[in-house]
Amino acid sequence: VVIDANIFNSHGQTLLRSLADAKIEALHVILQPGEQHKTMADILPAYDRFLGAKIERRTPIISLGGGMITDMGGFIAATLLRGLPLVQIPTTLLAMVDASVGGKTGVNHATGKNLIGAFHQPRCVLIDPQTLRTLPPRELRSGLAECIKHEIIRDAEGFAVLEANLPRVFDLDVEYLDELITHNVTIKARVVEADPFEKGERAHLNFGHTFGHAIENVFNYSYTHGECVALGMVAASRLAVELKMLDSISLDRIINLIKRAELPVGGLNIDDLDRIMDEMLFDKKVASGKLRFVLPDRIGHVVVRDDVPYALVRQAMQSLRG
Ligand SMILES: NC(=O)c1ccc[n+]([C@@H]2O[C@H](COP(=O)([O-])OP(=O)(O)OC[C@H]3O[C@@H](n4cnc5c(N)ncnc54)[C@H](O)[C@@H]3O)[C@@H](O)[C@H]2O)c1
Ligand SMILES: [Zn+2]
Repeated sequence: VVIDANIFNSHGQTLLRSLADAKIEALHVILQPGEQHKTMADILPAYDRFLGAKIERRTPIISLGGGMITDMGGFIAATLLRGLPLVQIPTTLLAMVDASVGGKTGVNHATGKNLIGAFHQPRCVLIDPQTLRTLPPRELRSGLAECIKHEIIRDAEGFAVLEANLPRVFDLDVEYLDELITHNVTIKARVVEADPFEKGERAHLNFGHTFGHAIENVFNYSYTHGECVALGMVAASRLAVELKMLDSISLDRIINLIKRAELPVGGLNIDDLDRIMDEMLFDKKVASGKLRFVLPDRIGHVVVRDDVPYALVRQAMQSLRG
């Protein structure tokens, strides 16, 4: 079991107790939270511990935590003995609707995020929305950004349902959370099933992420991933309006929902716009030197464009200035 230190005493103990009750012998390693601890060096002790315990091919790895832990636990499972069965138990909204589903696993490298990794599908993903009760509100909002993203890329009706029910998320109304999480996992799983190795439509999940990753790097992770995605979706949607793909009423609806989710839509302190633009050009998702953008042409549908003039991209990024 690979566990996030922040939840070891709460959900971690519950899981270990459940395994003991089921007479399943479990070993655990506790990983330090914080994106700066998502490195190869941080997972080496887990290899030592598990290999030292004479695990075998059928020994499953269970990750319990946010996306950072599901990514790291997943990578440990992908690489130990060339692949062990994996069970993901996400405990953040972001990990429930996004990181734990789809089989992307990995760690960061000094040159960038998630640059060392593997595709490794979990045997199962167990989600208990009750674990969100201990989640800091900022992290809950961060997960909402990916939910909003899923609706914009795939489901206009789902977007309207989320608009109508947003307060129920903040109330941690479990009945609605069940519905929201199921709906989002379904969207993500369908996209991934159609294109597991990101040769085509899986790229749609990167909506908001080309701008978002650059912001994440330049601001040194002072914004959460979801906050960066929120800002990225605002910039990408504005870019779509500039390109006459998206109407301004849809843009307003997108910005409004992001605001109501208490996520940032601007206010970036960009003193060096060129640096952030360079960051974007170096992102690993740049195909053959061309910047590719996933842009909405209406709520519920996106198109991949690699012919966007640089000046418009710069202008969209600049629009996030405070
Ligand atoms: N593999 C993928 O497809 C994919 C997709 C999206 C994001 N990710 C990765 O996910 C990571 C971000 O995940 P995240 O937003 O879940 O952040 P995170 O895992 O860093 O967790 C955020 C914080 O919440 C704490 N926490 C987790 N669950 C908790 C709970 N139930 N109660 C209280 N505290 C809790 C953590 O200790 C941490 O401090 C990034 O590393 C990103 O690269 C991966
Ligand atoms: Zn994301």
